Amino acid sequence: MRTLTGIQPSGTLHIGNYFGAMLPAIQAQSRGECFYFIADYHSMTSLTDPVERRTNTRDVALDWLACGLDPQHSVFWKQSDVPEVCELTWILGTLTPMGLLERAHSYKDKTAKGIAANFGLFAYPVLMAADILLYNSERVPVGKDQKQHVEMTRDIAIKFNQTYGETFVVPEEEIREGVATVPGLDGQKMSKSYGNTIDIFGEEKAIRKRIMGIVMDSRTPDEPKPDADKNVAIQMLKLVASPEVAAETETRLRAGGLGYGDLKKTLFEHTWNYFAPFRAKRAELAADPGYVDGVLATGATRARAVASDVLQRARHACGLV
Ligand code: ADP
Ligand code: TRP
Repeated sequence: MRTLTGIQPSGTLHIGNYFGAMLPAIQAQSRGECFYFIADYHSMTSLTDPVERRTNTRDVALDWLACGLDPQHSVFWKQSDVPEVCELTWILGTLTPMGLLERAHSYKDKTAKGIAANFGLFAYPVLMAADILLYNSERVPVGKDQKQHVEMTRDIAIKFNQTYGETFVVPEEEIREGVATVPGLDGQKMSKSYGNTIDIFGEEKAIRKRIMGIVMDSRTPDEPKPDADKNVAIQMLKLVASPEVAAETETRLRAGGLGYGDLKKTLFEHTWNYFAPFRAKRAELAADPGYVDGVLATGATRARAVASDVLQRARHACGLV
């Protein structure tokens, strides 16, 4: 079973990204073949600063490698290193109905927010379909927001296969339903758009400050708190501490006797320790300036071997060759 997913090079990652997207992707490595790429072409629909794109691409690669992406096992590359994907985007675009793209939630949401529509933003799902089909992907794990894009990919693949003959593997999406939504510091979904995040690789002082700044209610430490399970710090603690520590802390909070200050200190310590090995690994990898480039270059060669084969099949099917 081949799993493929794209990662946006969109800056600093937070622990919502980690538990919601990275950890499941990293765990999937033990269940089969994984193709993971950095979607730098896609990032052009939202980011126009070249320095930032270059920096973000390198940073996101380091982040993923530090958190356990194994480049020996998985194929890990930068989307634009395999430009065959652009040719396939064109080919698929000629079979993609306007109406299908016009119904895309993400396009509608972005334009509703005032982001100027351009061809790239409109064609975003076709590029994503090309990403998926170019590598014979069978399983595509994505967050809920990307579900419709994978459904479109299936529609486009089926249409191509009907028009030009069986060419593409029709993929299954895998929506990470089982994965909890990680709450942010204010109790809403953790998201960089809400400014309520804890960064995976943030500075110690900054992370401590953010955690100690979580706003709680005004009940005194001694008061019992029957709603302890709803407490944001408890919910976060369940992700970063052992089940025993999380359960014991929740019990103490419920019974009364544990103050919010101490609770937040506990949360800080477990968060900091949870990510300690990843920080060490990241520092080690970052110290070798050629490492990331080397990993991505090897990944691109491996990815390209599959891509050129599939593209050739598609070109042949539609009479380009
Ligand atoms: P953000 O909301 O910060 O902009 P993205 O939309 O870039 O995050 O999300 C990247 C990936 O991380 C997606 O697959 C998304 O499902 C996952 N993710 C983001 N925030 C959370 C969260 N709070 N809980 C669980 N998963 C999350
Ligand atoms: N659009 C995806 C996102 O924003 C990233 C992505 C690009 C992707 N191409 C993909 C995901 C192909 C899965 C498969 O998260």
